[in-house]
Amino acid sequence: METGARAGCVSIFSISSGERGGESREEEPIHSRDPVEILIPRDITDPLNLNSGIADSSCLVSPYKSGGKRRHRNRHHGVSLRISRGPIAAPPLTEVTTPQPGHFPSNVSFVKANYVLEKDHLLVTQRPEYDVILCLSVTKWVHLNWGDDGLKRLFKRAYRHLRPGGIFILEPQPWESYGRKKKLTDVTYRNYRNISLKPEQFTSYLTNEVGFTSYQYLGAPKTAVKGFQRPIYLFNK
Ligand SMILES: C[S@@+](CC[C@H](N)C(=O)[O-])C[C@H]1O[C@@H](n2cnc3c(N)ncnc32)[C@H](O)[C@@H]1O
Repeated sequence: METGARAGCVSIFSISSGERGGESREEEPIHSRDPVEILIPRDITDPLNLNSGIADSSCLVSPYKSGGKRRHRNRHHGVSLRISRGPIAAPPLTEVTTPQPGHFPSNVSFVKANYVLEKDHLLVTQRPEYDVILCLSVTKWVHLNWGDDGLKRLFKRAYRHLRPGGIFILEPQPWESYGRKKKLTDVTYRNYRNISLKPEQFTSYLTNEVGFTSYQYLGAPKTAVKGFQRPIYLFNK
C-alpha cells in the first residue's frame, strides 16, 4: 500500500466495466476489464478535497501509480474521473415536458421476476401483450437453472406473450460456454448433464415445436471481445 495511506483516510473505488446495460458479462476476459483503482487523499483534514472547489488530482494518490510509472493511460474513469476533474454536468434540457400518462416515459416499467413459469399448465394463462420480446444472453442461465423443461417453457411463454405478427429476438449463448458455469451449484451441474436441447437446435425447436412461422439469422456483432460475438436470430409469430 502507498506510504501516504493513513488510518482514517477515505478510499474511493472506481470500477469502469464498459458492459452492456451495466450487466456483468461473465464471458468477458478478465484482462480486458479496468482494474479497481483506489484513490487515497493525501490530506486527511479535507479527505474529499471539498475546500478547493474543483478537486485536484494531485491531492489523490493511487497505489498503482505510486511507483512513478503509470500502468494505464486514460483508463480509470467513473467515480475517479469526477473526483479528479469535477462534476460531469448533464446537457441542458431544451424543452421541459410533463410526462403524459400512457406515453413515453410513463409507459415504461421494469419488473423483476422469474420468467420461467412453475409448471407447463400455467402457460395457458399467458395472454398476448407484446410486439417484440428480446431474449439476449439469458438462455444459458435458464437452461442451467431449470434444464430443458424450463427453457422450453420460457420459449413457449414468449410465443404466447407475443401478439400475432410479433417478433422474438434471441441471442443464445453457445454450448461451449455452459461448461464454465456448470458447477455453480448441484442443480446446475445436474441440469447440465441432462441437457439434450443444445443451442444449435433452438431454431428448429422454436419453429417446429413452439409455433414460430419463420426465422432469420441477423448476424453476430463484430466486437473485439470474442465472448460478445454471438449469433442473433429473429423469429416471427
Ligand atoms: C448475462 S445477463 C444478460 C442481460 C441482458 N439481457 C444483456 O444482454 O445485457 C443474463 C440475464 O438473464 C436474466 N435471467 C436469468 N434467468 C432468468 C429468469 N429465470 N427469468 C428472468 N430473467 C432471467 C438475469 O437476471 C440477467 O439479467
